[in-house]
Amino acid sequence: MNDRPRRLRRTAALRDLCAETRLSRHALVQPHFAIAGSGEQPIDALPGIARMGEDALLRRIERDRELGIASTLLFGVTSHKDPLGRTGEDPEGPLHRAVRAVKRRFGADVTVMADVCLCTYTDHGHCGVLEHGEVHNDKSLPLLAAQAVSLAAAGADVIAPSDMMDGRVRAIRQALDAAHFEDRAIMSYAAKYASNFYGPFRQAADSAPRDQGPKDRKSYQMDCRNRAEAVREALLDQQEGADILMVKPALAYLDVIADVAAAVDRPVAAYLVSGEYAAIELLASAGLADRGALVREHFTAVRRAGASILITYHARAALEHRWLDD
Ligand code: PBG
Repeated sequence: MNDRPRRLRRTAALRDLCAETRLSRHALVQPHFAIAGSGEQPIDALPGIARMGEDALLRRIERDRELGIASTLLFGVTSHKDPLGRTGEDPEGPLHRAVRAVKRRFGADVTVMADVCLCTYTDHGHCGVLEHGEVHNDKSLPLLAAQAVSLAAAGADVIAPSDMMDGRVRAIRQALDAAHFEDRAIMSYAAKYASNFYGPFRQAADSAPRDQGPKDRKSYQMDCRNRAEAVREALLDQQEGADILMVKPALAYLDVIADVAAAVDRPVAAYLVSGEYAAIELLASAGLADRGALVREHFTAVRRAGASILITYHARAALEHRWLDD
């Protein structure tokens, strides 16, 4: 019986009924880059994605919402930089202004996730404080916690620390609770690898490491040779109080997504990063593959691996072109 050839009549509907993975708009988070002022600046490295002033961002999110995308991950981009990245806590900084404006306009209809990190705000471009040419983990924690509280005060629903300092989830949770923001969630970049796929983002956010300090982020982001370490990182972040655990990038780390999803007791998010987006756009624009089919395959692989949340620059296109199941 078992060796009977499987020549079933698989109609499209039967394939749909038997599919183990479905793609829904409810899984998607659209990242956006907020700048001071008005209007928008296209990002060469990310075709179709722009840095936006408040007015343009509100229009964009309004359209995202009409398409069915209810969550956004916001990044601030600024030329005001200093050694400690203090613009990251400035209530008049671009990210804070954007968070306030989006919450004022859309209230509970749009979930605002705010990136917490120092790299866009430091003059050296590292995600933590530099001391004697090294990134100092523990001295970075109070700055990250203060930035998180300031973003919660601006109205952020979810705080998303992307810095990869050890112990920052606990520091942020304690600071949020002390400031009576017990109701705000933390989505931690639990397993964030020192990846080559972040290039377009660093152009978009003006956040690449500069002349001082280490030339890369390998002292605090994960080594791509490690898998078990990712599970340890995720379990630690869960213990420290993270509500959602993220793996990043996505496609080159499907094994990590699967392991983390099996080990933790929280929703798992995967960040389909800028380089993954750009790679798909390049393939499609060269006429080498169909854009929608590539995006569907990418999304499906990441969902199949075990992520329930997809943070992706393709969210909007997926809805506009109806690449999802619903
Ligand atoms: C900053 C940060 C990075 C990304 C998100 N937050 C870049 C980095 O660590 O250098 C990358 C996102 C992307 O490539 O889309 N800490």
